[in-house]
Amino acid sequence: MAECSEKCENCSFDFSEDKQKGVCSIKEEFIVEDHVRQLSEKRLTETDKQKVFLGTNVENVEAPLSDEPPVKKFKHDDKKEKLRGQNKARPPPFKAPRELSLCPWIADQTTAEPEKKCLNQRCAFLHDRKEYLKIRPVDIGTECHIFNVTGKCPRGTTCRMGLRHLTKDGFNIVDEKRFEEHKKRSPSTMNRLSKDLQNELRKHKYDFAKAEAIIKANDPSRRKMQLQYSKSGSEIDNGEICEVGAEYQKPKLEVTETTDTSDNSNSVNAGSNVSACDMSHESAKPRIGPVDDSDLIRLRRSEKRKVDWRSKILLSPLTTVGNLPFRRICKEYGADITCGEMALAPKILKGAQEEWALVKRHECEDVFGVQLCGNNPGVLTRCAQLLNREIDVDYIDLNLGCPIDLIYRQGGGSGMLNRLNVLETVVKSVSQVLDIPLSIKTRTGVYIDRPIAHNLMPKFHEWGVSMITVHGRSREQRYTKLADWEYIEKCALAARPVPVFGNGDILSFDDYQRVKETYGAVQGITIGRGALIKPWIFTEIKERKLIDISSGERFDILRKYANYGLEHWGSDTRGVETTRRFMLEWISFLHRGNPFIQLFHFSQLV
Ligand SMILES: Cc1cc2nc3c(=O)[nH]c(=O)nc-3n(C[C@H](O)[C@H](O)[C@H](O)COP(=O)(O)O)c2cc1C
Ligand SMILES: [Zn+2]
Ligand SMILES: [Zn+2]
Repeated sequence: MAECSEKCENCSFDFSEDKQKGVCSIKEEFIVEDHVRQLSEKRLTETDKQKVFLGTNVENVEAPLSDEPPVKKFKHDDKKEKLRGQNKARPPPFKAPRELSLCPWIADQTTAEPEKKCLNQRCAFLHDRKEYLKIRPVDIGTECHIFNVTGKCPRGTTCRMGLRHLTKDGFNIVDEKRFEEHKKRSPSTMNRLSKDLQNELRKHKYDFAKAEAIIKANDPSRRKMQLQYSKSGSEIDNGEICEVGAEYQKPKLEVTETTDTSDNSNSVNAGSNVSACDMSHESAKPRIGPVDDSDLIRLRRSEKRKVDWRSKILLSPLTTVGNLPFRRICKEYGADITCGEMALAPKILKGAQEEWALVKRHECEDVFGVQLCGNNPGVLTRCAQLLNREIDVDYIDLNLGCPIDLIYRQGGGSGMLNRLNVLETVVKSVSQVLDIPLSIKTRTGVYIDRPIAHNLMPKFHEWGVSMITVHGRSREQRYTKLADWEYIEKCALAARPVPVFGNGDILSFDDYQRVKETYGAVQGITIGRGALIKPWIFTEIKERKLIDISSGERFDILRKYANYGLEHWGSDTRGVETTRRFMLEWISFLHRGNPFIQLFHFSQLV
């Protein structure tokens, strides 16, 4: 019997609900008696060494948090990571030395083609195929999934499974029939950053006029000025002032488009927001008063595209692990809506490849959103305009929940919950710049004893938000204690008619059914760790039963992930290592899904 204290700090699971308090029953044959957990001293900072080895009572010692999202790297983030649970001191992503790799420009050379030449004079890769063959790493498999699917492996000579598509001299072989068939299909992965767009962004040549006009219109000082005019009795038609702040004037949510509130879809917000800010006033009366932005910007009276949020199951944004190959797996198991990993708005605006990789969408993702994190209206609104125009995306999600210190301290993620004026300008501006829905993902608040999300719900509605996910924990709480679904329900009631998705601790169909039956105002469910632990949770929910899968089926899922990973990251050494790294990250969750056969009572959070 493995024993756990009533509120186990390590596994963040509250056992108080369990019949046998604090006892997790495991069949004897599955218990490893002599397993001792080892902590790698090398990975610790000096402060953490003190905590661990000297037992020093260092201030602000935090409990290890096993489910903390991986920490992203930010500017000025050169301090050593603090000890926070497992797996935090990852090595940097794999980098193959260029002088030992064949140049990608010539790697897929076939014997039938004229000789390919690399035109980059400063290219550091090898260009001599014969030399490369001497040091080429051994194959790790005999079947190249990409060759089998598409008829041509773009990694050619550098593929680590190249046996069937390489001549003995290292030239690529193409299965012409299959390749021709494949070429007729549109690309399966969308939203790549083109070189031209990257250059425009890097040289600050991109036209952000729309975003800039909207930001200006929502500038708090301007709103105040407009309010003063309206108070002083000048004949300004309030309906024509773009979204005056709630504290100054109740916005006129005059709905000029068809808005269907009955289905709780986003249309109502879209309509209200767009109409309140619509600047095409052909029929407007002549106005007296200061020049406002309606004179400067002429926004189209466009209707926002819609997402049908009704009773949907959404795969939560998951940094690192919620990558495109993983989302494909979740789609196959029945996830309705997917969302990319959190992307940092300033990096998107800079045209950074690694951030643009996070907005890629697979063709199977029929309803797909991009999550943005930032700390100011200028950057977030520009970024929203850019993505709305340049990529194929159904909604933008604004992150108001990220608890990571660095983001929080800079006023982004959950840090924005402390800056309500900025939040208002951000939400209004981003919503107005988009012709797709804006959703919000928030925690209950910053502090455990001071939940504030319920107060924000009606404001989000006024500001044009189409859907809100509430993770029922505060920032301070991180992953300790169970999510507070009573509070999520309270938010859902306050947000009406904006649909609220509940989020937190849904790990099986039973959990889903319980919250759906108990919290009637909650419209949809957002699932994070539950999907990582068992991606077939979506099928469980659709088929309304718990599902146990065999070890063979588990292995098949991993095999599929490996293939999807190689398709996405490439089948050369670098792609193989990247696939391996992300697969291991995922397995650190997947292994917690205990088959029923092993446990009598169980929690995957153990
Ligand atoms: C590994 C990991 C990465 C996460 N990354 C993000 C993220 O990028 N954006 C976000 O809003 N939430 C992120 N979260 C939080 C989850 O989306 C979700 O809100 C939280 O885990 C609670 O839901 P759950 O109990 O279903 O996991 C992450 C969580 C985990 C465990
Ligand atoms: Zn080259
Ligand atoms: Zn190959």
